[in-house]
Amino acid sequence: MQNDPSKKYQPFQHAPKLTDRQWPSRTLTQAPRWASVDLRDGNQALAVPMNISQKLELFQALVKIGFKEIEVGFPSASNTEFAFNRLLIEKGHAPDDVWLQVLVQAREDLIERTVESLIGAKKVIIHMYNSTSPAQRRVVFGKSKDEIKAIAVKGAQMIKDRLHRLTAGGTEVMLQYSPESFSMTEVEYAKEISEAVMDVWQPTPQRKMILNLPDTVEVAMPNVYADQIEWMCKNIKNRDSLIISLHTHNDRSTGVAATELGMLAGADRVEGTLFGNGERTGNLDIVTVALNLYMHGIDPKLDFSNLGAIIDVYERSTGMTVPPRQPYAGELVFTAFSGSHQDAIKKGLAERDQNGGKAHWDVPYLTIDPTDIGRKYQEVIRVNSQSGKGGVAYLLESEFGIELPKDFQREFGPIANDAVDKLGREVSGAELKAMFWKEYIERETPWKRGVFETSSKNGIVNCTAALFYGAQQVQRSLTGSGNGPLAAFVNGFKTAGYADFEITNYSEHALSSSESAEAIAYIQIKSADGQSRWGAGVDTNIELASVKAVLSALNRLT
Ligand code: KIV
Ligand code: ZN
Repeated sequence: MQNDPSKKYQPFQHAPKLTDRQWPSRTLTQAPRWASVDLRDGNQALAVPMNISQKLELFQALVKIGFKEIEVGFPSASNTEFAFNRLLIEKGHAPDDVWLQVLVQAREDLIERTVESLIGAKKVIIHMYNSTSPAQRRVVFGKSKDEIKAIAVKGAQMIKDRLHRLTAGGTEVMLQYSPESFSMTEVEYAKEISEAVMDVWQPTPQRKMILNLPDTVEVAMPNVYADQIEWMCKNIKNRDSLIISLHTHNDRSTGVAATELGMLAGADRVEGTLFGNGERTGNLDIVTVALNLYMHGIDPKLDFSNLGAIIDVYERSTGMTVPPRQPYAGELVFTAFSGSHQDAIKKGLAERDQNGGKAHWDVPYLTIDPTDIGRKYQEVIRVNSQSGKGGVAYLLESEFGIELPKDFQREFGPIANDAVDKLGREVSGAELKAMFWKEYIERETPWKRGVFETSSKNGIVNCTAALFYGAQQVQRSLTGSGNGPLAAFVNGFKTAGYADFEITNYSEHALSSSESAEAIAYIQIKSADGQSRWGAGVDTNIELASVKAVLSALNRLT
């Protein structure tokens, strides 16, 4: 890197001078018109472009999501692209309310072939572009502003001259112009060239044209793009005959922000792709913008209820993958590893359950309800060595119905955490249950239960218990009495001189995940020398589950 970057790079040169800027004090209240450019801009960016059947599968998924404007390709660029248009039209794959959009440069041969590819379609958008920034004018075309404008005007005229070939057959046509590299272009020149195209196409409020203002390469902060959009909306002539459209890329990682601010600045329409596939760092991720609106209670008019299925189609057709931390869609998005996050999520979900899910969504760390987009609560909490007792308790409860008392969680949490730390990876609910079983339920040394019997007289319970002790399983027995079976059992231990402890905590519940109507008992004991331990026992008989829990705690003490 440069010691002094200012010698090589300079601040952005073409920010408009915007007075009385309005966009910062606005809020978004409705969804824009959406246009998917997955099959064109997204496809152009693939090392191996989609074949016809992949394009068709993705097209059908886009229709199902609810896109009404879909840029299906660049039909003059290759036979595959041309053939795809013909397939869509001839086999009637496009519903009547879906506009098939096609991209074309301002060149006669390309325009000719593009129009040919659209014959017989119901609704089409012909999207013409030419590049307008100073660098493009100088380096790529070696042409003056007027010469570049002449290219756009000539292209617009060539399209206009051919429209009758489509309209004669009943095709409805909308026209779109993009001054490509708009965000690097002087706004005055972008206005001049756009108005020159408008002069040819003559849009009206009843028959609008789309003016797409691309952030072809992000070169400035999103507020600058918003200023450019607001400047255009305020200064371009016949604004009410235009659909102002945004097309942001993501070079500075602010494609979503630029689009959202551009919408505030007055745009009507947004172009982008699923999960942001596109040249270099990608196009705008439409899923994110749509779900950002959704999380503010605005109907995005796109259906991502089954985002998992959409990801499958996307990955199959493009060969791209959705990164694990992709907003809304990534595998880890509705997952919390950190203990404090897990605890807060667990409490937030419990509060929601309590009020019957009626209040507005307000669960810590979760921007939306994962089930709204086909994800599961079980996915929400996962456990690794960073997790606390909350995550461990959540998985045991949600997957196996084991409702550890709070204080028990404080004991088992660090035990599980140590074990997970040694494994050095994430663990599943089943693995946690196995750890719990090993630590508490299956702990049968040194004390193992044999027969346990009770009788009661005048409110006093007497017990006799046969026990096995140590590795040799030496038989031991005890008798005791108390105001209940457990008190009698504890008393028996003390009377026999085996152990001196008291029960400080007790709870039990049926195991809902168990088929054999088992119950689980949790017991905390405190020894005469002040040590506390939890134990747990499972049995179809609740009294025996409790006796096992006492032995489990005692075995963990010795
Ligand atoms: O990024 C871009 O500028 C484009 C245009 C063709 C709209 O894709
Ligand atoms: Zn683009």
